[in-house]
Amino acid sequence: MKNNTRNKSMLFVANWKMQKTLDQSIQFVQKHIDALKALNRQIILCPSFPALYPLSQLLENSSVFLGAQDCSPHELGAYTGQVSAQSLAEVGCTYCIVGHSERRNYNKESNSEIAQKATQLLHQNIIPIICVGESQQEFEKKQSIDVLHNQLEPVFKVIESQSSASTVCIAYEPIWSIGTGNVPDTQYLQNIFDTLKEWCSAKTSKTKYTLLYGGSVTGENIQQFYQVENIDGFLVGGSSLDFQKLKKIVS
Ligand code: PGA
Repeated sequence: MKNNTRNKSMLFVANWKMQKTLDQSIQFVQKHIDALKALNRQIILCPSFPALYPLSQLLENSSVFLGAQDCSPHELGAYTGQVSAQSLAEVGCTYCIVGHSERRNYNKESNSEIAQKATQLLHQNIIPIICVGESQQEFEKKQSIDVLHNQLEPVFKVIESQSSASTVCIAYEPIWSIGTGNVPDTQYLQNIFDTLKEWCSAKTSKTKYTLLYGGSVTGENIQQFYQVENIDGFLVGGSSLDFQKLKKIVS
């Protein structure tokens, strides 16, 4: 498939982490909304929680989607500091990242907790972007496939038990690649994405799985990822903070 044709159907998720303040997030969208729309690509902006509401107003009726960076594994209740999937739906989120390695590491999130978060999101018709990936040590010990299997097994279980049809994104992000400038080689990635595709295909046809790659994606290295079959889009951190860099990636 020609890169340009493939690029059109690709998903580009901008994970702003805690890198932009509320004001900076608003300013980014105010300044670039027309240019973002003109790119004519599937772009999802994921700012921090306080920016979700103002951005949903700014992005209303546009082709640019809104995503959160996390949600509670619980429906409602006495969970100080947590944000429910229902609130995210009410604020206009159509996507939500869960299980990012930074949360797995700093907040000690377990695979089953991440699966619960995905369930809450699916109940609200929000598409979960479930992040998985191995550490440098696990990569060196050639344990990547086992790690991914352990991370995804509880997720597949809850997704497949849903009664209605759903869409789920799985983002493969090797931890050793996030923010480092180091990216896996094409052959290694092809093996990972073939395996992920195989696992997803073995599941029921009710769920549509979209496979993303994340980790040091830039406008300079994006071409090499197009050589890998089964990559349906990208989760971009650092390079999504600057509009020109984001533009180079998506176009
Ligand atoms: P990066 O981050 O693009 O800065 O490596 C990706 C991510 O953490 O989602």
